[in-house]
Amino acid sequence: MASPRDGGVVILGSGLIGQSWAMLFASGGFKVKLYDIEQQQITKALENIRKEIELLEQLGALRGSLGGREQLSLISGCSDMQKAVEGAMHIQECVPENLELKKKVFAQLDRIVDDKVVISSSSSCLLPSKLFAGLTHVKQCMVAHPVNPPYYIPLVELVPHPETDPSTVDRTHILMKKIGQSPIRIRKEVDGFALNRLQYAIISEAWRLVDEGIVSPSDLDLVMSDGLGMRYAFIGPLETMHLNAEGMLSYCDRYSENIRHVLKTFGPIPEFSGTTVQKINQAMCEKVPDDPEHLAARRKWRDECLLRLSKLKHEMPSK
Ligand code: NAI
Repeated sequence: MASPRDGGVVILGSGLIGQSWAMLFASGGFKVKLYDIEQQQITKALENIRKEIELLEQLGALRGSLGGREQLSLISGCSDMQKAVEGAMHIQECVPENLELKKKVFAQLDRIVDDKVVISSSSSCLLPSKLFAGLTHVKQCMVAHPVNPPYYIPLVELVPHPETDPSTVDRTHILMKKIGQSPIRIRKEVDGFALNRLQYAIISEAWRLVDEGIVSPSDLDLVMSDGLGMRYAFIGPLETMHLNAEGMLSYCDRYSENIRHVLKTFGPIPEFSGTTVQKINQAMCEKVPDDPEHLAARRKWRDECLLRLSKLKHEMPSK
């Protein structure tokens, strides 16, 4: 929870992720200023946030200890970047995933920020060494990559630039904890950080299994939703190994040869094109037609599932 000594938070870019961050910071009691290059978008974002917070409160799913009205009173719009960042302690950049655009925004910030504020990018895959190259305030810059939808999935990957001051990461780690997120430190930047490297490894093998006709697209998804995913919502792959034998040493002793044998049969990186795309797309559209209404309804269902799962995870703390 925010303390009276804490400064405010600025969200730059009030789209999907910017709105989620605004709600998360307000749930932790932080004052939030929402900035966007489009004035109309700020109005729209504030309206979306109001509706969303009211709905979450009705459902008993509002995060944090403050009521909806109090949380809403902490969030305001601002159409002047310089005014928005004045006195802020944390700036969370959420503009579209485009290196040149983000660099332009960071160069603008570099000219107007003080030496204390943390400048944090939500980028999913742009490397800090590219994003923050040449900035005077590089020591204060880092990536804090959330997972969609951030209100229900707490993980945040903290990725420093090689010149980021360790205190910048430490402060952001504390801030993320204060708003109930689950930060992890990526110690050295790497393409895809950790989450997308794991995700892409799974996508890649899923694709190959369908491509080679070994399983159907719908059965492949069940491997995760009714199989691995059940465990992974609570324990990671390393702890899974530890528990699936008499500890990690016993697991490696028993299974490493078999794992290495299977890994050697993995094929090349898929092209994600051609007839396999048609086949997978057809199967997905049979389940969820790809028009905006069906996609939105399915996302709503997904978010309800995640909401209930996050409640269960709170009832079953991991430590
Ligand atoms: P979005 O397109 O929904 O929102 C971007 C917002 O930035 C828009 O409101 C736009 O008007 C505003 N904008 C554009 N130029 C600007 C500027 N110069 N200054 C201020 N605002 C500006 O994008 P979304 O999905 O919210 O993504 C934002 C960032 O979050 C991206 O870097 C993305 O990779 C990352 N991210 C997205 C996730 C997702 O699932 N959508 C998940 C995790 C991270």
